[in-house]
Amino acid sequence: MMKNRKTAALLLLILTVSLTLVSCGYVKYPAAGSESPGSAEASPAARQDLKWWQETIAYEIYVKSFKDSDGDGIGDLKGIISELDHLKDLGVGAVWLTPCYVSPQADNGYDIADYYDIDPAYGTMEDMDRLIAEADKRGIRIVMDLVFNHTSNRNEWFTASASGKDNDKSDWYIWRDPKEDGSAPTNWRSIFGGSAWEYNEARGQYYLHTFLPEQPDLNWANPDVRKAVIDVADFWVKKGVGGFRMDAITYIKKPAEFLDGEPDAGDGMVGIHSMTANTEGILDYLNEFKSAVQTGTDIFTVGEANGVSAEDLPDWVGADGVFDMVFEFGFVDIDLPDESNWCETREWTLPAFKQIFTASEEMTSGTIAGGWYPMFLENHDQPRSISHFLPAGADRAAGGKALGTLLLTMRGTPFIMEGQELGYINVDWPSIDDYDDISTKNHYQFALDEGYTEEEAMAGVHRFARDSARTPMQWDSSENAGFTAGKPWLPVYDDYAACNVEEETADPDSVLNWYHSLVKLRDGHRELVDGSYEELFPEDQQIFAYVRENDEARAVVLINLSTESAAYDASCVEQGELLLGTDGESEKGLLRPLEAVIYEIRK
Ligand code: GLC
Repeated sequence: MMKNRKTAALLLLILTVSLTLVSCGYVKYPAAGSESPGSAEASPAARQDLKWWQETIAYEIYVKSFKDSDGDGIGDLKGIISELDHLKDLGVGAVWLTPCYVSPQADNGYDIADYYDIDPAYGTMEDMDRLIAEADKRGIRIVMDLVFNHTSNRNEWFTASASGKDNDKSDWYIWRDPKEDGSAPTNWRSIFGGSAWEYNEARGQYYLHTFLPEQPDLNWANPDVRKAVIDVADFWVKKGVGGFRMDAITYIKKPAEFLDGEPDAGDGMVGIHSMTANTEGILDYLNEFKSAVQTGTDIFTVGEANGVSAEDLPDWVGADGVFDMVFEFGFVDIDLPDESNWCETREWTLPAFKQIFTASEEMTSGTIAGGWYPMFLENHDQPRSISHFLPAGADRAAGGKALGTLLLTMRGTPFIMEGQELGYINVDWPSIDDYDDISTKNHYQFALDEGYTEEEAMAGVHRFARDSARTPMQWDSSENAGFTAGKPWLPVYDDYAACNVEEETADPDSVLNWYHSLVKLRDGHRELVDGSYEELFPEDQQIFAYVRENDEARAVVLINLSTESAAYDASCVEQGELLLGTDGESEKGLLRPLEAVIYEIRK
């Protein structure tokens, strides 16, 4: 009797432990953030307990270019409200708004004069409250862009700081005395060109600006500054936003000593990035920010982390990292050895391109507890991906679908850049005067100063100008593509008659409808959302292929990113059923130019 009772107790114990393990997510379905290092290897099945922002699709709105409601040629918040259904139909659950705070617009809003109010060109705080509420009704959260490396030089914080050495904000920015000869404290070149220092008469000192002179860098070493930015973030959390994109975040910590660097161009200067990015101690500031702002909320953060690569990720993302996700830039610079020089490009290969994604996917899905990846191919600073990553002359629609497949089926939260879902390509306006972006103009001038010809400088502009990502959204084929009743602040691209939301909605073969199909597919085939990631054929020069697998199914995604047919070993899809293909039926083992297919093997 005694023995039986013991056995029963033991059985009960075993049962309880296994049930507990299953329900806690330690068996088969490790919950996001709960797995130990290497657990992805132990089981290909992936997490099922995803947070809201891991399951959704994010969309970047360039506020100035999305939709104008009042005919002044500038997009605005009311315009966004009127087009929220377009986003809902795309399965979007998070909308990242580029900065719409009060700003003199030296860098289109990335120079903030007042973090607590909306720029009148974009509307009012009431419009913002309504946008948050209207978006919420459609299951969409608004994500604000927090620009905290710098402010505008017209921000009250800066005007106080610049007024003299003896006020409560005098140490809020990075002030340094001139060198003995009166020149700038160091030979650092700002990211937008020219010296990173600007002289200020009132203080008899220089201030540092990583970007434009109109964007003075904040001094994060000062605890009052850190408190001030936390207060801003708290204000927006209380408004009900769903998250933050943290601008230029890798520059916030400056080195202890400011030293000249080895010149890297004929101007005798060195790019500031190599002197200040990711300075030791930066994580302390960001950890402080994270615990102050995020604790007890369900918001997410995504850092713009120029200079961070796969091996750095454990410090930056996941349960122990400072953000939920970071945008890394290894792949966007694959053809650009030096960001200041748009005239020197380098050859790149598809295996190298794929390896950059795979390295980060493996880190965020395997090594890092709770790691997650923000999948993107474009943003408002980058060329359009069809022009950037596909062979010259690639068909716009086929290319848009191939890259859209990559965007929406990799492991991570996809970030669609406004217009990408329509298959936008780069603009190639004839003269530099046609361009608006200050960094584009400065890059052009830098090229001329370095001795490149005007044609070479313009070729660089056509490849990399940020304006290509910022032309107005094309809603229909009416004048100005339905973006505005007035004169758009930046010209609408020539091809708008065919490439617009209305036309593409009606055309079953459009890029937009392909995006809709992919969104639907993600809903019905969850392995595309929560499944693990494993690359196939890493050495293949034409095909980007990978497996997404959870406990129920295994999806095989094959994308031909070349404009030639491409053969592959079909054994990976032998038992697979074709879920979706850009060209309809597909012969196993062979992809047409730019064809993308998704097979599924159910378990
Ligand atoms: C980021 C933004 C870019 C801006 C810069 C300065 O890189 O994405 O648009 O110009 O920071 O704020």
